Amino acid sequence: VGKEDAEYLVSLVRSVPGFPKEGIIFRDFMPVIADPRGLKILLKALEESLPVKPDEFDAIAGLESRGFLFGPSLAEHFNKGFIAVRKAGKLPPKTIGESYDLEYGTASVEIETNAIQNGERVLIVDDLIATGGTAKAAADLIEKAGGKVAGFSFVMKLNGLDGLDKLGDVPVSSLISMP
Ligand code: PRP
Ligand code: ADE
Repeated sequence: VGKEDAEYLVSLVRSVPGFPKEGIIFRDFMPVIADPRGLKILLKALEESLPVKPDEFDAIAGLESRGFLFGPSLAEHFNKGFIAVRKAGKLPPKTIGESYDLEYGTASVEIETNAIQNGERVLIVDDLIATGGTAKAAADLIEKAGGKVAGFSFVMKLNGLDGLDKLGDVPVSSLISMP
């Protein structure tokens, strides 16, 4: 996307100091997808910045909740399917899970045991990487289920938290860097 569109995208991100707790600046991308032009730019920018070629992955996995908001659209664009990586306790058995630490708590993610074909190459998407705990847990989960992580695509990356270091030597893209 062009410079003007990129600036417009960044301008739509809402920053909320003190949410969900003191010391955190919450970077909220809901206004991006609420805006017709913002949503279009977002999807185009994600398509253009994909960290791997379309023939280098078989499916897109999105992280609950905000990875669900654009992951399926992106998957459709590249003629792939979408796999939902859910927060714990939402799926009927049998599931496999992985726990992790967050910038503001702990959580675990789950997928259905048979959600991934053996050797399937999966691109993981989410709105934001902070500590990298969520993305790393999703990656471990996908590998545990027999898949292979093809790469990660984020809308935003928070600086100073070394989130990307957790992900190892895998292709990563992010559209916007924020303090
Ligand atoms: C946010 C965000 C990422 C995660 C990133 O989700 O959407 O999934 O935090 O943080 P990390 O890199 O430190 O792991 P959150 O857990 O707040 O859940 P939500 O999307 O359901 O609101
Ligand atoms: N997830 C983890 N840290 C976050 C932040 N600062 N803003 C939005 N989502 C987050």
